[in-house]
Amino acid sequence: EMSPEELAFQARIDAGVKIEPKDWMPEAYRKTLVRQISQHAHSEIVGQLPEGNWVTRAPTLQRKAILLAKIQDEAGHGLYLYSAAETLGVSREDLLAELHAGRAKYSSIFNYPALNWADMGAIGWLVDGSAIINQIPLCRCSFGPYSRAMVRVCKEESFHARQGYDIMLALCRGTPEQKQMAQDALNRWWWPALMMFGPSDATSVHSAQSMQWRIKLFSNDELRQRMVDQTIPQIEYLGLTVPDPDLKWNEERGRYDFGQIDWDEFHNVVRGNGPCNRERLSTRRQAYEDGAWFRDALVAHADKQATRKAA
Ligand code: ACO
Repeated sequence: EMSPEELAFQARIDAGVKIEPKDWMPEAYRKTLVRQISQHAHSEIVGQLPEGNWVTRAPTLQRKAILLAKIQDEAGHGLYLYSAAETLGVSREDLLAELHAGRAKYSSIFNYPALNWADMGAIGWLVDGSAIINQIPLCRCSFGPYSRAMVRVCKEESFHARQGYDIMLALCRGTPEQKQMAQDALNRWWWPALMMFGPSDATSVHSAQSMQWRIKLFSNDELRQRMVDQTIPQIEYLGLTVPDPDLKWNEERGRYDFGQIDWDEFHNVVRGNGPCNRERLSTRRQAYEDGAWFRDALVAHADKQATRKAA
């Protein structure tokens, strides 16, 4: 029951042709991309907050410089992604208004608190590590602007993951108290990091259609499994313990079996009731209001330039 236009569109996708903003596209394809890209952009912007909390308390000047650079990268990622969304005919103003009203989603992970310095290690290593696993395939997704934005984003994410692992390594080679801090951070971030990949394939509402359109190349569960398989050897190298009694190497599959995710917790956080949802939104709203004078000044400057040119 696809129209001739839809059939031709699907044939281009199947042939690996990139879709560009001015090409014809089904309305549902456009909407799906606006949804995913804007949620992704919001995640980058809100994602600055848990780490921003630690800039003033980084243990050395070098750690502080690295952390600042990483947080600034995330602001940049948010901006490329809003720009990619704008090519689909939506405005950044409207997307931000949805976020500030609490109607837009962003990644569940950023609603957990960063309680101590070891969390900077765990976030870089596990959260940015998971982001890479999810985003490397997006470099090959069907929508041109999104796929191109992901190339630089992934390069920067890999620096973020390495700096996180480096913090963990330093703590694990330190005093018993420092190693215990690293273990505590792993305990608190492990399960929320696995939740980042989204609901199980059986309950993921958008997966089938997004895979047909090559917006998604791999399913939520497949990417989550890759994260587990890739991270367990790193945990072993650090000499830490995985907070999952059911974790077991499965010889037959050649992959790890792991325990059940607490889906009630996941849905609760996504619905806005995680430990920091309210705080994150009010911080973003405040930052937006505090920046109003700067946006006004940019517009005033542009108007003045336009008037001068016209004269
Ligand atoms: N946190 C919050 N919401 C989530 C999460 C999560 N971890 N996982 C899924 N959801 C939401 C989806 O956005 C969707 O909500 P909606 O219908 O209101 O839009 C709903 O749960 C159902 O999930 P799916 O059907 O599996 O949705 P989708 O096909 O979009 O897959 C995924 C979700 C995997 C997150 C996908 O959107 C994606 O790959 N996005 C790009 C990457 C991204 O946004 N990463 C953000 C974190 S990484 C970072 O910023 C550092």
